Amino acid sequence: MYKVSIQGGRRLKGAIQISGAKNAALPLMAASLLTESDIKLSNIPEVVDIATMQSLLTIHGASFELMNGKTSKKRTLLIRAKKIVNTVAPYDLVRKMRASILVLGPLLTRCGHAKVSLPGGCAIGARPVDMHLNALKSLGAEIEVEEGYIHAVAKDGLKGAKINFPSVSVGATENALLAATLARGETVLHNAASEPEIVDLINCLKKMGAKIEGEGTRTLHIQGVDCLCGAEHKIIPDRIEAGTYAIAVGIAGGEVELLDARKDLLEEVLSVLCLAGLEINETEKGLRVICKKNRIKSVDVSTGVFPAFPTDLQAQIMSLMCISRGKSLITEKIFEGRFMHVPELCRMGAKIRISGQNAYVTGAEKLYGASVMATDLRASVALVLAGLGAEGKTEVNRVYHLDRGYENLEKKLKNCGAAIERVLVH
Ligand code: EPZ
Repeated sequence: MYKVSIQGGRRLKGAIQISGAKNAALPLMAASLLTESDIKLSNIPEVVDIATMQSLLTIHGASFELMNGKTSKKRTLLIRAKKIVNTVAPYDLVRKMRASILVLGPLLTRCGHAKVSLPGGCAIGARPVDMHLNALKSLGAEIEVEEGYIHAVAKDGLKGAKINFPSVSVGATENALLAATLARGETVLHNAASEPEIVDLINCLKKMGAKIEGEGTRTLHIQGVDCLCGAEHKIIPDRIEAGTYAIAVGIAGGEVELLDARKDLLEEVLSVLCLAGLEINETEKGLRVICKKNRIKSVDVSTGVFPAFPTDLQAQIMSLMCISRGKSLITEKIFEGRFMHVPELCRMGAKIRISGQNAYVTGAEKLYGASVMATDLRASVALVLAGLGAEGKTEVNRVYHLDRGYENLEKKLKNCGAAIERVLVH
């Protein structure tokens, strides 16, 4: 087992290459199950969740070829699901990653049946899958949940329908969208998610021959087709990774260029950071983030569906607010249990009070290094960021959470002058 050790107090200077978006790559990989032809995905991030999805798709019969190797920007994954040999997604893999549920729609629509383990709760909340199942039922699937597995059958194939999601869900929108591409007739998804990762998925599905209109809006029209073909697609840059490093500059101070970061995917995040006192400029290669001030200003932040502030950056912005001048209110509106980082930040000297979905943060002059650990990806990285600005040494345990979604985290920060390393725990 490894931990990440950070000696705080070093300013950051340099450039960080932003990788392809994990949360765009996962549904795109699931989409490869919709066709027997080749899907070539470039800018694929080298993170554990991608490897987990690869293991799952292999069980279903997909084969993989990694092309161009070495730099992440050029890494291309060729996926071929010529024949689906197995429609069961087993508990052992699904429990490792909730995004595994995204194979349900493609398997069902291509094969007429699928059996996928229920993902269960997780560290950031209960995270039910009722909206995924109801959407597929609307498309004509018969679904039963037995012994921890979702059994879905569509004997005569799926049939287009009007689906009105009771609330916005990224995953349920993706599952319904994937299933509807091969359903008979038209499907309309109302109150669909419009996150950039969904737009990326639609762009690739269209290259595969899917007929979809409305991407980037909350209503999607899908005209089912008989079959889909192969495609080549470059995954969008990871807006959450870019936001994470922008916040790192706010905490540590300094100047960093985020290569390939896109302003249009981060408008709300950038406006919060500018209010906090950071300077952010677009460059030819991405975004330059500058933090000259000693103390940053406090800002109230509320998470929400795109284009609002993303829940996946809530923990990181809280680390920044912990060392701001003044008080800030951080409201988590997407997940009910996503404050796992709070007790750990408090161990580092942060002053935070939780009441329901609200976190009241009183900025301290500085945080102090401590041994900490977190139970999910974004909470873990928030602790790394806090460590960059803290006095003394911070050790973040359970590094495997970081590896699920951040490619070369230590290397990227180290290249900008951070004193950070991975240490083997005996
Ligand atoms: C996606 O999860 C992301 N994961 C999450 O990123 C992200 O936090 C989340 O969207 C919100 O933006 C991937 O893209 C792989 P949801 P997802 O369905 O699709 C409730 C990260 O750190 N809900 O939009 O699972 C749910 O409990 C991860 O990279 C139901 O009630 O999220 C939540 O409160 C973590 N019933 C809300 O909807 C359902 O059937 C939004 O969840 C589905 C969801």
